[in-house]
Amino acid sequence: MAFSERVTRLKSSLIREILAAAQRPEVMSFAGGLPAEAMLPKVVWDEMPVAMGQYGMSEGEQALREALAAEARALGIECQASQVLVVSGSQQALDLAAKLYLDKGTEVLLEAPTYLAALQIFQLFGADCLAVPMQADGPDLAALRQRLQQHRPAFIYLIPTFQNPSGLRYSEAKRDAVAALLDEFGVTLIEDEPYRELSFDGASASPIVSRLRKASWIYTGTVSKTLLPGLRVGYLIASPDLFPYLLRLKQAADLHTNRVGQWQVLQWLGSEQHRQHLGTLRDYYRERRDAFQAALQTHFADLADWQQPEGGLFFWLTLKQPLDTRTLLAAALAVDVAFMPGEPFFPEPDQHHGHLRLNFSHVAPGQLEEGLRRLAQVVREGQRARAA
Ligand SMILES: Cc1ncc(COP(=O)(O)O)c(C=O)c1O
Repeated sequence: MAFSERVTRLKSSLIREILAAAQRPEVMSFAGGLPAEAMLPKVVWDEMPVAMGQYGMSEGEQALREALAAEARALGIECQASQVLVVSGSQQALDLAAKLYLDKGTEVLLEAPTYLAALQIFQLFGADCLAVPMQADGPDLAALRQRLQQHRPAFIYLIPTFQNPSGLRYSEAKRDAVAALLDEFGVTLIEDEPYRELSFDGASASPIVSRLRKASWIYTGTVSKTLLPGLRVGYLIASPDLFPYLLRLKQAADLHTNRVGQWQVLQWLGSEQHRQHLGTLRDYYRERRDAFQAALQTHFADLADWQQPEGGLFFWLTLKQPLDTRTLLAAALAVDVAFMPGEPFFPEPDQHHGHLRLNFSHVAPGQLEEGLRRLAQVVREGQRARAA
């Protein structure tokens, strides 16, 4: 069949396949990044004006743009509502950025590991994805400087707050240093922050885009992790030089984001109900994170190392004896446990064996012990088979 050249680079997403396999009700899934079902707030539609069924503006609902700009300013990002584009989930911000910047062979920098679906879309558009190695408090600055000196990346893509998949959060010093380097080399920053609000220990730090003086930037966020992912409402805020291009790309993609979802988000943003919901959400996830940490210590202490995450939805395990964790999937699913192998989160999966990403928000506490016990058993058997 005569498809486009880029379709030859279209990889199926391993996570989608795992989630499909994990649909069986008996499967305990640590695989996805789904909010806990019990934490999806009840939403009311009764008062939605009929006009919300009409076509809308490509930029998004004006009141929502203003509310989002105000929130961003409170984080220290200097911006106006005119720089806000409401998008169909922050995933679309990545799609539009890819279309704006990438041709076959365009170099981009990203964290290793990084968000799987970002890697997928950048590679689809032909990007040559160059990894920046990570340390516990953010990028290895010497390696980042070296990449910036040796390459001409179109942009750098970063998830500095409770990263997916590693859970790490950049320190203040690293945020400043990254901003200074990007200014020095004039490289555009795409900063993706779906987990900022899911902070369990009070940790936060202002976005890197707020620290830039010269470089262009796109900041993206979403209501997927704090309200309802099914609304498909996210946003991007861009430096004024980029905004007109992103707006035209949005028009070409889908005219505008669904207005009913935008209306619903507006009912929540800035309300007392929203503030309370976020508090409940943090308490609930903190409890699950703590229970997960305790169960991991019981079952994985001899098998893996990890840092307890201060926010977000994931634990990132590094096996003491690395093996290709993709080879463990079938055995895990056979005992009704799903997890996410770490390899696909790296641009060169085969050079990064031995990590597992485990979501702690989805499996009920009553099943947690048993799920992790079975998974540890699968890892042990995999290591024995490999040694034999
Ligand atoms: C780092 C990161 N960016 C973007 C997204 C996509 O979120 P949305 O539902 O807003 O498209 C996710 C979802 O898991 C994510 O983890």
